Amino acid sequence: MIRKNLTPILLSAAAAMALAFSVNAFADVDVDGAKALARENSCFKCHGLEKDKDGPSWKKVADKYRGKPDAEAKLIHHITSGEKAKFPDGHEEEHKNMQGKASPESIKNLIDFILSL
Ligand code: HEC
Repeated sequence: MIRKNLTPILLSAAAAMALAFSVNAFADVDVDGAKALARENSCFKCHGLEKDKDGPSWKKVADKYRGKPDAEAKLIHHITSGEKAKFPDGHEEEHKNMQGKASPESIKNLIDFILSL
């Protein structure tokens, strides 16, 4: 009877699984839905994806929070609590508040989209 050495097969299966689990955590973001929600709520008046306006570009926000485990919760709070936002000219006003304006799922999707940039 021929005994096959299964080690290489098992190793490549393990590698494939590791790869599957390391894919971008935001792979299931609905990009079109996120952009549409941002447009409806005039987020782009103050934010560009890549360009700073009165608010920081969302790419910058993603860079700032990269690798921080509480990023999602923090940013969801930021856009649903009306907390103070500091503008470039130094004045502060309540940040746009999405509480009650969209479902928790679509708000989370928008934040995941921002963090994926
Ligand atoms: C009237 C202008 C304005 C509008 C409209 C606006 N933002 Fe902002 N946003 C700001 C400013 C200014 C900051 C910077 C706040 C700070 O650093 O204190 C900011 C910061 C942020 C941040 C980063 C917060 C952080 O902790 O770094 C996120 C995320 C964000 N906004 C998302 C949104 C979303 C989503 C919308 C649409 C629902 C939106 N903003 C609409 C002005 C605006």
